[in-house]
Amino acid sequence: MLVVRSVSHRYASTPVLAVTDFELARDEHCALVGASGSGKTTLLHILAGILRPTSGEVTLDGEVLYSSIGHDDRWRARQIGVVPQKLHLLTSLNALDNVRLAQYLVGSSAHTEALMLLTDLGLKERLHARPENLSVGEQQRVAIARAIVNKPRLLLADEPTSSLDDHNAEQAIKLLFEAARRTGALLVVATHDARIRERFARQVNLTRAPS
Ligand SMILES: Nc1ncnc2c1ncn2[C@@H]1O[C@H](COP(=O)(O)OP(=O)(O)O)[C@@H](O)[C@H]1O
Ligand SMILES: [Mg+2]
Repeated sequence: MLVVRSVSHRYASTPVLAVTDFELARDEHCALVGASGSGKTTLLHILAGILRPTSGEVTLDGEVLYSSIGHDDRWRARQIGVVPQKLHLLTSLNALDNVRLAQYLVGSSAHTEALMLLTDLGLKERLHARPENLSVGEQQRVAIARAIVNKPRLLLADEPTSSLDDHNAEQAIKLLFEAARRTGALLVVATHDARIRERFARQVNLTRAPS
């Protein structure tokens, strides 16, 4: 279960995320919606454990994301998978090694997992291709594989359909739901795309914080 309590954020002195409170059970896949600039990406980064909120608390299955004890990067990489808006695939590595890198970061020895995952995502013939030689849709599938290869409890995606046509947007959202099902993860997607909002059991509406 993901619990977000009284979370707000300001960059320097500019408030950008109003106080936000919600709880999501494991199967309550959720869309973070709101106009551009409403703080969707900011909240996603907070949920990812990579941005400490100015106030409030986030817990994942009872563990506080920003406790004073502090979780190391390996803990975060195991529990939370992220598909960022800009995919940030490493250009010098092929598809398979981009996914294996995520395993390396948590010290995983599940050697066949990356291969199986990419095969299941339809990339069997593209394992050794570098990102620049993959289509946008293929790159996104590599990024999804990278996000779920360590079987996270929480899967986050930032605007996964913003640059895709209707067909590919539909594919991407299907893949994310399927990925969440496969790993038993809770899926949280930040989106301003009206095409996909209705697909989510829960929607959290963000409004820009008053300054
Ligand atoms: N690192 C940052 N420093 C200062 N302001 C930022 C930073 N990141 C985002 N912002 C500002 O915070 C507001 C919310 O941004 P963001 O979370 O990206 O919203 P959304 O994803 O909903 O478009 C915007 O006004 C943006 O310009
Ligand atoms: Mg954003």
